[in-house]
Order: sequence, then structure tokens, then C-alpha cells
Amino acid sequence: MRIVLLSLLLCVVTACSQEKVPAADITPPVIASQQAVSMPDTFAADAAMAVLNEGGTAVDAAITAQFVLAVTFPEAGNIGGGGFMTIYMDDEAAFMDYREMAPAAAHRDMYLDENGDVKTEESLFGAKASGIPGSVAGMWEAHQRFGKLPWKRLVQPAVDLAKNGFNVPAKLADHITRYMARMEEQGISSNFEQFFGEAAAAGVLFKQPELAAAMERIRDQGKDGFYEGETARLIAEFMAANGGLVTEADLRSYQAKWRSPIVYPWQDYKLITAPPPSSGGVAVAQWISMLNEVLKQQKLPDQNSTAYIHLMSEIGKRVFADRAEYMGDPDYVEVPVQALIDPEYIQARASEVNPDAISVTEEVKPGLYESPDTTHFSVMDKWGNAVANTTTINLSFGSGVVVEGAGFLLNDEMDDFSAKAGVPNFFGAIGGTANEIQPGKRMLSSMTPTIVLKGEQVKLVTGSPGGTTIISSVAQSILNTLFFDMTAEESANSPRFHHQLWPKDTIAYHEGLDAAVVSELEAMGYTMKQSNFGDVHLIKRTDKGLEAASEARGRGKAMVEEAPLD
Ligand code: GLY
Repeated sequence: MRIVLLSLLLCVVTACSQEKVPAADITPPVIASQQAVSMPDTFAADAAMAVLNEGGTAVDAAITAQFVLAVTFPEAGNIGGGGFMTIYMDDEAAFMDYREMAPAAAHRDMYLDENGDVKTEESLFGAKASGIPGSVAGMWEAHQRFGKLPWKRLVQPAVDLAKNGFNVPAKLADHITRYMARMEEQGISSNFEQFFGEAAAAGVLFKQPELAAAMERIRDQGKDGFYEGETARLIAEFMAANGGLVTEADLRSYQAKWRSPIVYPWQDYKLITAPPPSSGGVAVAQWISMLNEVLKQQKLPDQNSTAYIHLMSEIGKRVFADRAEYMGDPDYVEVPVQALIDPEYIQARASEVNPDAISVTEEVKPGLYESPDTTHFSVMDKWGNAVANTTTINLSFGSGVVVEGAGFLLNDEMDDFSAKAGVPNFFGAIGGTANEIQPGKRMLSSMTPTIVLKGEQVKLVTGSPGGTTIISSVAQSILNTLFFDMTAEESANSPRFHHQLWPKDTIAYHEGLDAAVVSELEAMGYTMKQSNFGDVHLIKRTDKGLEAASEARGRGKAMVEEAPLD
């Protein structure tokens, strides 16, 4: 590895300059480097850092974090869902797509009633809302290619936490209580309360024996411990008994895929980010590069000022018009990625932006080129390798149903498809035929795990949960950190905002945005909606070393430690 070579070189230089000192008197120089994790909870942060301290790579630490979160962060951590992992390892960029797939029995109109209207609750709650989970396959493939420590070592912390229990953090207990109240309000019945009700009260030692057994099968049999045998049988039986479509054959057919990440030059940097079936990489690249174009004609407004938020909203409208029209699973539809981020196209789209007034929503068309929950974490190891990983079961607690006998929540990712062209999904995102349901297809995502390089060195690792707001959160975390030169802590906690074309002229924003700016934007004609975005977890390299930050609203933990290089 590059830094090991550098340390060898430094050892040689040190030895040369001390060649007259007797060998016994020479203390070998300890060459330390830093390693960092930024995680949605303390259990994942501690377990991931322990892996790094044992000499594991960023990918090893990420695998451990993914499985630990499946135990301690049931809102979004999972083995019943999917996600994306962006990797920069030994100067190589890679992207692991472990997004869920529609089961073989899925079809375009499966969520429409006899009048052709969307039955929203069916794509959001219960077994029928689930796609074939991809997380275990994704972690397995990442380990096959980039793992250093043994697989069993990496899964063990999740087994221990499920078997021996963990003390439920107050924020998790509150979330569970609010979720159960909402289910009751909406008249939705499920087995959620049986698994997470009283057993997961604040401060209580929460043990999950069925999940522990499922984790042991993964630990001992790898990917087959989930997609074949006992767990596969339990999933298929639960599906059959509860109106779900996923079968044992679907599980056997699931494939996690290595894809080429989008590598996009911006300023002095290079973004390594998510390709389709994520819409996020294209969207973030479009957003920040259209801003660059606009700034050729005008000065950069202050961060989070009225002029800045308006400008970013004007750009966001164009980004989301393209997303709705062109984006889908590249294995099923042709997604014109290069055309959508081509400099001439970006220039043309940026020229439509009105810096002074709101452009008419209905007139913002796709260019002619000619959730909410999900969770994210970032890792950097002592060799400078990085992982940005975003993972999801879609809404908080996914479909709200637990696989009996296996103890894990299933995703409700089918709602990320376009159940009907032009009808918004839960996140208000509109899609067309590119994202219609087909058997075996992956639903369009906004997850955007992103690594930013300067030269060959990782400068920033970032990502966020939050459905379509992920795209804004990631774009703004890049701009805040690298354009406005904020620290990791400032960037993670700076209020963000989001405009996605529809609802018309509406900006969602974080609590904490300047009240005067909110009033000025309202006076311009925007509807301003205070809203919850996901929590950003990022790592930034500065001249003085690494900074790691987890947005304070969540229950995350970020750590930087010194580690001797081997
Ligand atoms: N389920 C949220 C996303 O994938 O974008």
C-alpha cells in the first residue's frame, strides 16, 4: 500500500542518517497515521474502530458496522434491505450495488386498484412492500474483494450484541414509541410490537435471540447462510403467509453487483460517487457543477443566504426534472449518465436558471441532451483507504414487519419504484417508465455515498439518509466543507434545504435556518416547510489531520484515532 511504501522509505532514510549508532540502541521509529469512523450509533462506531485497531481495512470496518447496525439501529440498519458502498482502496475506486430487486412475481401494476389508483399502503407496509434483500450479498462480495480480517471476526460483534443484548438508547426507544403510535393511528397491524414493544424500552438490555441465530448462520455460512437454508426458508414462509412475493428462488437468484462508480472532476477535486440505479451521483454532479457555471456570471452568495438558497433551488428543479425522466435500473433501461453530466449540457441547463425570481415549475422540463430513513456511515483506515456506505430498508423500520423465526425487519423498498407514472412516491418523487416495476429490476434510489479525492488522496467521505433529500444533503455537505471551508463538525450541523421541483415552489429546510432568510424566501413566492432531513456522517482531511463528525440530531458517534502503521 502507498503509505506503507512511504513508511518503508522513511525507515530507510532514518537508518541511513543513524548508520554509526550501534544497532541495539536504535529504537525503530513509530510512524503513526490516523483512522476515523463516523457512524449513526455508538455500537457501530466502537465495533468499527476495534476492527481498524486490529489491522482491518476500511472495508472490513464497514462490514462490521453494517451488521452491528442491523442489530442496534433497527430503523434503518439491516440485513432485510439493501444499499450502496463506495470504496477507494489502494488507489482503486469501486462501487458495490447491493440494492434490493423486485421479486419474479412483481409486475408494473401490482400496487394499483381496480380504478387504476395507487394503493400506497401496500407499497409501504407489510410483506408485499419488500424487494429481495441485498445487504448480506453486498457485504460478502465486498469482503471477497477487499477484506483482510476473517469474515467470522467481522460478523461476530453483531452476533454478540443480538445474543447478549445492548442497552436501548433513549432516542431509539422514543422512535419506536412514535412509530407504534403512528401505526395504531393509521390502523396498521403488524408483528412489530411483539418484537420491539416493551422489550426495547429505554435503558433496558434488549436481546434478540432469533436475530442472533440468523446472524450466526451468516457468520458461519457466509452469504449462503442468508440466501439458502433456514433463513431463506423462514423468509419465504413468512412472505407466503403474509401476502408477500419473495420466494426461495428469488433469494437464490439475488446478485450484488460491482459497478463503475461515477468519477467526476469538480474544481481541484474528483468525486467518486453512486451510478444508477442510484440517481444520486448524477444529481449531485449536476447540482454542484451547474452552480459552478452560474458562478461564472455572478458572485458566490453567502452560505445559506436567501440568494444562495434560491439559486440552489433553481438548480434543484432542473436536477429533479431529469431524475424523473431518465433515471432507472441500468440493467433494464438506458440511462444517459455521460450525457447528463456532460459540460456542454450542464452549461445549457445552468443558462435556464433565473438568479432573481422563481422560474415557472410547469415550464421546467427534463433537459434535452442532446427516506424518511436510511442510514449512512463513513470510514477511513490508516492507509488512507475510504468507504462511504449508505444502507436502507426505506422508511423508518421498513415495511414494519419482522420475519418470524429470523427476527429482522423487512424493507419497503418497492415504494421507490414508480407505482404509476406521474404519481409521487412517499418522498414526493415522480417517475416515469424508466422506473416502472419489472421482475428482477432494482428500484431507483437517491442514496449517494461519496468520496472526494484531491490528487490521489481522500479529502472527504460523506453521505446521508433522507430519501430524496439525500441528494441535497450530500451536495451541500460537499459545498459546505470544500467550497465554504467549514470544519467537519460545522458542515455536518449546518442547516440544509431541499427543492425537488414538485411540490411547486416548495423548499424544505432544517430547523436552524435563519428566520429572516426564511421570511425573505416566502416573500419571493416560495412555500417554506420545516422538515427532518437525515443525519450526515462525514470525514474530512485537513492539513492538520482528519476530522470526523456525526450530525448532532442523531445518536451517532465520530472518532479519529492515531494508529501505528505496519
Ligand atoms: N429508500 C430511499 C432511497 O433509496 O433513496
